[in-house]
Amino acid sequence: MEKQTFYITTPIYYPNDKLHIGHAYTTVAADAMARYKRLRGYDVMFLTGTDEHGQKIQNRAHEAGKEPMIFLDEIIEWIQNLWHQLDVSYDDFIRTTEQRHTRVVAELFERLVDQGDIYLGDYEGWYCTPCESFWTERELRDGKCPECGRDVQYVKEDSYFFRMSQYVDRLLAYYEEHPEFIQPESRKNEMINNFIKPGLLDLCVSRTSFDWGIHVPRSPEHVVYVWLDALTNYITAIGYGSDDPGLQAKFARYWPADVQLVGKEIVRFHTIYWPIILMALGLPLPKKVFGHGWFLMKDGKMSKSKGNVIDPFWLVERYGSDAVRYFLLREVPFGQDGVFTPEGLVERLNYDLANDFGNLIHRSAAMMNRFNEGTVGKPGTFAVADEAMASLSAQTLQEVEQHMDEMQFSMALVDIWKLVRQVNKYIDDAAPWTLAKVGNRERLGTVLYVMAASIRVVSILVAPFMPKASAAIYKQFDFALEEQTWQSLGNFRALHAGGRVAAGTPLFPRLDMAAELEILANLAAGAQGSNANKMNAGGAGAVQQTEAVQQTEAVQQTEAAQQTEKVQQTVAVQQTVEGQEQIGIDVFGQVVLRVGQVRSVEKVEKADKLLKLQIDLGTEVRQVVSGIAQYYTPESLVGQKVVVVTNLKPVRLRGVDSNGMILAASQEGMLKVVTVPEDMPNGAVVK
Ligand code: ME8
Ligand code: MG
Repeated sequence: MEKQTFYITTPIYYPNDKLHIGHAYTTVAADAMARYKRLRGYDVMFLTGTDEHGQKIQNRAHEAGKEPMIFLDEIIEWIQNLWHQLDVSYDDFIRTTEQRHTRVVAELFERLVDQGDIYLGDYEGWYCTPCESFWTERELRDGKCPECGRDVQYVKEDSYFFRMSQYVDRLLAYYEEHPEFIQPESRKNEMINNFIKPGLLDLCVSRTSFDWGIHVPRSPEHVVYVWLDALTNYITAIGYGSDDPGLQAKFARYWPADVQLVGKEIVRFHTIYWPIILMALGLPLPKKVFGHGWFLMKDGKMSKSKGNVIDPFWLVERYGSDAVRYFLLREVPFGQDGVFTPEGLVERLNYDLANDFGNLIHRSAAMMNRFNEGTVGKPGTFAVADEAMASLSAQTLQEVEQHMDEMQFSMALVDIWKLVRQVNKYIDDAAPWTLAKVGNRERLGTVLYVMAASIRVVSILVAPFMPKASAAIYKQFDFALEEQTWQSLGNFRALHAGGRVAAGTPLFPRLDMAAELEILANLAAGAQGSNANKMNAGGAGAVQQTEAVQQTEAVQQTEAAQQTEKVQQTVAVQQTVEGQEQIGIDVFGQVVLRVGQVRSVEKVEKADKLLKLQIDLGTEVRQVVSGIAQYYTPESLVGQKVVVVTNLKPVRLRGVDSNGMILAASQEGMLKVVTVPEDMPNGAVVK
């Protein structure tokens, strides 16, 4: 059976400058979707590229003292390199200066004039060069571009126009018959109410005031105005207008596109003008245009011309592509706007990636090595908890598929992380270390198997988002090829027992929040030097004036003050406790402290210093043996809220298992258990 096709596109970006994480956002989202569809067996065509004509590019090349093509080639190389660094698996990259595109645009322009869709007139009105957009007087906001707020120029020139108005009824009918064409839904009403209802104006499709573009064959003083040129990339790239039968077949195979991803500011071009151009050409319309929201800085939209950009190259160099991809797609529901904050980034990386995901993989591999000679265990009969893991995996698969089909990337990641956290909890409850110690080999085998089988499921589910981590886990756990497929996810027990598991190193390091914030603040201030970042025009310096940076600076100052204080304290301590080594917050962060409530206490037989406590941590009850019998009677401790070190290696004291430690202060024959106010819930983190 022939594979079903899936054609997905990103906007083609203006290469007037280096790109920022806003562009990375769209491209990574498209990539995650492309990878997901490939995993599900589709024949995927994923297109991205660059929009290389127009006044803005011509001006920028001129400012740089370069020929446009030389200026462009350098930036395109930088952009393609960025996509490779971010593991963007595009199938084709179209440049609108390529002949496969320019030839077809010139031809179709002529055809549209012959058909009467395009006519010669003259244009008088306002133009915003950075946005390459025309505006009428009433559309301006305080005399400025309504989109970017910058100055507009009054232009008056001969222009060709596209007769848009005659297609309006057909366009509205298409919206009506294809309710899923414009996503999210709210953008459709915006298009209808703001642009179509007030009367759709004919679109200017040529300019005579600059030269850098595709010349209209019948009157070469006109160059095709960027949007007609730009939008048609989606069809020329896959062979439209080619005489080559192979390319013609390719076009027939992939068109119409399944999903066109765009930022919300260009939804108008993609859901009004683009469908009308396609109608005029007699071509079917794309199935879906998804207009996602903006990544904002605290001073508004991140944009190349505003200079408040975060350099994606730098982020990838520092945190790795998986972490950046995860952050971009997890942080903000797809469709809505979101604010980029360094705190948000570091928290995601520390909590979701280092603590939850990385730790799951690392501790599991370590246990398989310690307790089972580095192999996945052989499963015996599944107990209730094991079956529960299998059915949660199946349920997660369904939820992820549903959310991916709705393009809800962040929700799909939430689903996967629910599973990740549950596997961690399963391990805590099943306590393989105890099973190993008491020699319960059969149960141990089953538990290790369930751990590996769950990890297998997670590693495939995350593959569209984090291709590197996914591949690293396949390798570390030695999953067979058939165990790496989406199809195999339906069967939790598809994993063979006995595979070799390498101990490995943690996938994601834990970051020191204070240090990282400082580095990120410097980055935003343009102070970071980076080899990969030679294109940095240094424009980001402008950010320094913004509230965002003022806030970051404020944070930095207090952090710095706290640090100084800490250093002073440490110095004082050093004078009394000689040779005490300083540690970073990251070392401290390795100790997990939680609030627990003492449920019951017993004396340990034949050990006059030890008490055995059952402590409620909210999600589980832990047994802890503590050397406090000389200071507390068992009854006096019951009900107390104490602080428990929960990630301490289990030990056996006088034949009794102890799984954790409670904190106490002591000096010269005095000891007090550290207690916490009663209203603090069990399980709360102490830090
Ligand atoms: O508009 N947040 O190119 P462009 C989210 N060449 N996404 C953002 C973003 C942000 N802060 N900034 C940019 C053009 N983007 C035209 C397109 S298509 C036929 C021609 C993303 O370089 C988002 O996808 O201005 C947005 O639509 C696109 O980059 C704009 O890129
Ligand atoms: Mg733009």
